[in-house]
Amino acid sequence: MDVGGKTAIVTGSAGGIGRATAVMLAARGAAEIALVDVKEDDLRETARLVEAAGARATIHRLDLSDIPATEAWFQAHGDVDILYNNAGVVSGLPQFPDVDAARIRWIIDVNITSLVAATQIAVQAMRRRGGGVIVNTVSTVALGTGFYDAMYATTKAAVMMFTRCCASLKEECNVRVAGMLPGLVDTPILDTTGAGGKSDWMKTVLANNEACVPDDIAAGVLMLIEDDSLAGGDWVAVRRIDGKIAYQWGHADTAA
Ligand SMILES: NC(=O)c1ccc[n+]([C@@H]2O[C@H](COP(=O)([O-])OP(=O)(O)OC[C@H]3O[C@@H](n4cnc5c(N)ncnc54)[C@H](O)[C@@H]3O)[C@@H](O)[C@H]2O)c1
Repeated sequence: MDVGGKTAIVTGSAGGIGRATAVMLAARGAAEIALVDVKEDDLRETARLVEAAGARATIHRLDLSDIPATEAWFQAHGDVDILYNNAGVVSGLPQFPDVDAARIRWIIDVNITSLVAATQIAVQAMRRRGGGVIVNTVSTVALGTGFYDAMYATTKAAVMMFTRCCASLKEECNVRVAGMLPGLVDTPILDTTGAGGKSDWMKTVLANNEACVPDDIAAGVLMLIEDDSLAGGDWVAVRRIDGKIAYQWGHADTAA
């Protein structure tokens, strides 16, 4: 899809990967970007950067763990060319099985239930308007590595499977759904893995791996949006290895 003149929604755009992608969409000529997050003050800074890069920005404080509110918001605002489902949370401490049930429901709702609801409503709108592109932020943990946070890995595996299961929408209604699998990225989410900062396991992960910067992932998301030769359900993992960005591509297996 040529991003020029298009409308987009980016969830989790108060910082990190979402902010970088919103700004990159604007720099590529997107007309209007709806910025969704719980952190309203940080959304204002993203909006300033998006407008400086040339697109109109609107700010929407929405808690994606509130599923009825999420459904209502997407019914009202979900008619766009591009949806980037990017918001996500980690369990923090304590981990499963000591985490309480409400927190388990919260991570499931933010990471997968709201993403499915948003996608469902956006696909219906895109079908009416003749097509669109949806990118879901997964994680390389969905490839079977990094089981430090059981509920995070479980929800991301669900997002991966959901993305692959949406493959046929490209043929059915010209809606291409793609997966972005970031490796390690230096963003605020890492500071929520422990009690008041990085967990010991995250410190070990950081000591043993190179981290991407948000723009590395944003560039991958733009590739996924712009390349209409990709099949529905395709995904790309983005990691930094020996100082260089490494892409690992995967394809939904749609063979009967
Ligand atoms: N940083 C990494 O190493 C890494 C690796 C793989 C995948 N990811 C994924 O990338 C995505 C973006 O994360 P990031 O690394 O940019 O971190 P981040 O913390 O900067 O971004 C996540 C955003 O989601 C928002 N958010 C959290 N709960 C929300 C809710 N209930 N409603 C609305 N918004 C909410 C946060 O406020 C935040 O702005 C997440 O889905 C994350 O799981 C990150």
